[in-house]
Amino acid sequence: MIPEEKVREVAERLSIVEVVSDYVPLRRAGGNFLGLCPFHAEKSPSFNVNPAREIFHCFGCGAGGNAFSFIMKIEGVSFPEAVKILAKKSGIEIEERQLTPAEKKSQDEHTQFLRINDLTTAYYRSVLLNGQEGEPARQYLANRSVQSGISDAYRLGFAPDRRDGLAKHLRSNGVDLDSALKLGIIRKSDAGWYDLFRNRLIFPIRDARGQVIAFAGRVLDASLPKYINSPESPLYHKSSVLFGIDMALPSIRTGNSVIIVEGYFDHLALYRAGVQNVVATCGTALTSAHAGMIKRHAERVYTLFDSDNAGKKATIRSMELFLEQSLPAYVIALPAGDDPDSFLAANPPEAFIALRDRARPAFEYFVRSLLLETPPDSVDSKVRVIDDIVPRFRKIADSVERDLYEKEICRLLGITTHAFRKRMGGGKLSQQESSQNAGLPFQSGDNIQDTLLALLLNYPDARAEIIRVGLETIFSGDYLELAGFLLGTLADSDNSTKLSQLADSLERPELKMLFSRIMVSDGYIADIEWRSVLDQCSRSSEKKQVSSIKDIAARLAILDPDSDEYVQLLKQADSLRTRKSKL
Ligand code: UTP
Ligand code: MN
Repeated sequence: MIPEEKVREVAERLSIVEVVSDYVPLRRAGGNFLGLCPFHAEKSPSFNVNPAREIFHCFGCGAGGNAFSFIMKIEGVSFPEAVKILAKKSGIEIEERQLTPAEKKSQDEHTQFLRINDLTTAYYRSVLLNGQEGEPARQYLANRSVQSGISDAYRLGFAPDRRDGLAKHLRSNGVDLDSALKLGIIRKSDAGWYDLFRNRLIFPIRDARGQVIAFAGRVLDASLPKYINSPESPLYHKSSVLFGIDMALPSIRTGNSVIIVEGYFDHLALYRAGVQNVVATCGTALTSAHAGMIKRHAERVYTLFDSDNAGKKATIRSMELFLEQSLPAYVIALPAGDDPDSFLAANPPEAFIALRDRARPAFEYFVRSLLLETPPDSVDSKVRVIDDIVPRFRKIADSVERDLYEKEICRLLGITTHAFRKRMGGGKLSQQESSQNAGLPFQSGDNIQDTLLALLLNYPDARAEIIRVGLETIFSGDYLELAGFLLGTLADSDNSTKLSQLADSLERPELKMLFSRIMVSDGYIADIEWRSVLDQCSRSSEKKQVSSIKDIAARLAILDPDSDEYVQLLKQADSLRTRKSKL
């Protein structure tokens, strides 16, 4: 545990410009410093660092925060680790608080678990690489064209066909076998200790930092079960582990997208083909914890599941999770009967990239497969289709996306939006209660609310006036939440020097983004007559309307979905949407 005061000391000692400059060349541009964003690929700089506010924000990808958040994101480390890195840089010594005996014990046990997994990985690896016993596995890998570089990258191994090879190995290394038992890799019977994995190819499962936390073992023939995974353990919670995340992170960072597959070999096939922003679930369905992790790292997600029925179900289920997270999800469809391994065995990597580029939004995929199953050729079937769609449609957190899909659904079903909305609201939703003002979580980046928030940050008098008029009459959605939070915190002190630390107390990424964006871009608000700006903003906010999305939706409704223009427009709408939700 790092004491609170130390964190503050580190924050005060370093300037954010200094910290960021170690990674990104910056040049001064007005009150900010400007550079190429390290978190997404860009050619012209939209990455801003504001030294006065100690905050950074990228207008291209929305990344933002203070010096600690910067280090966490760029080094892929936790908050305490980021503090330590910056403490070291600023020459501040951090003595950690003494651990309680219980904490100490659990830390020691954790270290012991990791050591056991390292020993186990090394053992299986040496069986695979050396000696007669590994020959069948070497043959198997050769048959599947897994070269040694790939075997190395995954740290593949082989569990020999022996009762207690691993148990013996661990014991001879002084491991307390009861600890290994807790990891599930060895077991105990009346006849003594024995191994979980026998005669299986071993995939170590690693966390984001590359530490081995579990194992999966595949048979070398057609026997069943095909895979065994090591059980849940203190190190391994499969509902929140994504296989391959450590290998994928660098490429996820540059491309801002993730491809999710279901199998270890799917992962391997893509990685080998140079597609590295890939993760796999470990023998479970995707969970909301997985979706949350993905959202922290990427802005768009592709699912690449088998084309059979189980794969379709998984695709739709995962779509629901991503809709809830407002993370744009796309479906990569492989030719029937193919999986990534077989596809890439028969086609060059470019063919896969082409498939990826043709990926359809998950919701569209869902609606289309529904319509294939139940053609909407009678009132009855239309009602059934709508009732299948409605609960998913409600999960679309984004109003632009809802608008688009509403049009699309109505077009495909040949019904009016009025009828659809009626069905949506159980008959209660009236025409004028459109998706734009029905209290949806979506908030567009809004110049007026931007200015108002900047006023609130910079002018204590404006703050008082805003409170007097009522926050709700001025702000809505994320702006409202952020304004409420800021007023609560700023009331305690008027000292704005450590505003940047406030970003740490904001939980929702959307709020963090909004906050850092305002913080780097409110220079225009300095030395103004706040009252006239406030009045002006209040007046124009009444007139504000969303328009361009409507135009796109109208065009989409009359286009052939297979046409290039349709695909282009969907992309455009998507980027508009991402930009809007980022702003
Ligand atoms: P697959 O059967 O598609 O395996 O199961 P795969 O990884 O593509 O392997 P190959 O190419 O057939 O050799 C997909 C995933 O489902 C889980 C594993 O995580 C597997 O990678 N699974 C499958 C199990 O956990 N147990 C099983 O018995 C089968
Ligand atoms: Mn497979």
